[in-house]
Order: sequence, then C-alpha cells, then structure tokens
Amino acid sequence: MRYLQFVALALLSSLMICCGKSSPKFSPRTVQLYEQHCARCHDVGAANAPRRGEAQAWEKRLRKGYPTLIKNINSGLVAMPPKGGCAECTDADFDALIHYLVESQP
Ligand code: HEC
Repeated sequence: MRYLQFVALALLSSLMICCGKSSPKFSPRTVQLYEQHCARCHDVGAANAPRRGEAQAWEKRLRKGYPTLIKNINSGLVAMPPKGGCAECTDADFDALIHYLVESQP
C-alpha cells in the first residue's frame, strides 16, 4: 500500500514538473478566463484566496466536492464576488477553472 502511494506520488510530481503552466491539459479559453478574472486574487492569495497550485490550500476545499465549489463561485464566497467576477463564465468553465487552480503551477 505504502509502495503504491509512493509510486502514485512520484508519478504525480513528475507530471507536474514535466508540464507546468503550459500543459495542453488546459484549454486556451480556461487559461484566458483565469488570467482575466481570477488571477488577480488567486495568484497572489488576496484576501485569503487559496492560491493557484498550492496543494495544502486546496485540499480542504476539494473535500466539499466540485458541485459545491461551483455553487460557491456562482453565489460568491466571503471576499470573492459572485461568479468570481466572470459574468460570461458557465458552470463548465468553472469546473475547468477549478482544475486549473488546483493542478497547474504559477
Ligand atoms: C476579488 C478576489 C477574487 C476573485 C476575482 C476570484 N476569487 Fe475565488 N476566492 C477568493 C477568496 C478570498 C476565496 C476564499 C473565500 C473564503 O473561504 O474565505 C475564494 C475562493 C474560491 C474557491 C473555493 C470556494 C470554496 O467553496 O471553498 C474557488 C473554487 C474559487 N475561489 C474560484 C475562483 C474562480 C474560478 C475565479 C475566477 C472566475 C475566482 N475564484 C475569482 C477571491 C477571489
């Protein structure tokens, strides 16, 4: 079991090192929406926003599940404005944006 965990971790970190920010996993639209609407808070951690790529900060948020996270973006959460300030974003965009926030590195 421990061995499997180690292998999974090693795989994961090599993936992160290999692909970094420009990973083809994220569509140009996702990256653009992020830069336009979310980066100003989530790249710098403004008002306690969980920072992009910071595993620890996202761990407890991910436990809520994607549907709840998407709902919270839509309604706004504490210092985050409704829809994270992105009026044109759909739920599918938010889904992709959460993946980007959690899995990409600044
Ligand atoms: C004005 C700053 C700001 C902007 C812009 C912003 N956020 Fe946030 N976001 C925050 C803050 C602050 C929190 C943490 C709120 C808290 O729990 O205290 C947060 C939390 C979140 C969470 C976690 C929600 C939860 O339930 O824990 C997600 C997901 C998220 N933001 C996604 C986005 C996305 C996607 C965008 C762009 C469309 C965006 N945010 C734009 C400030 C911002």
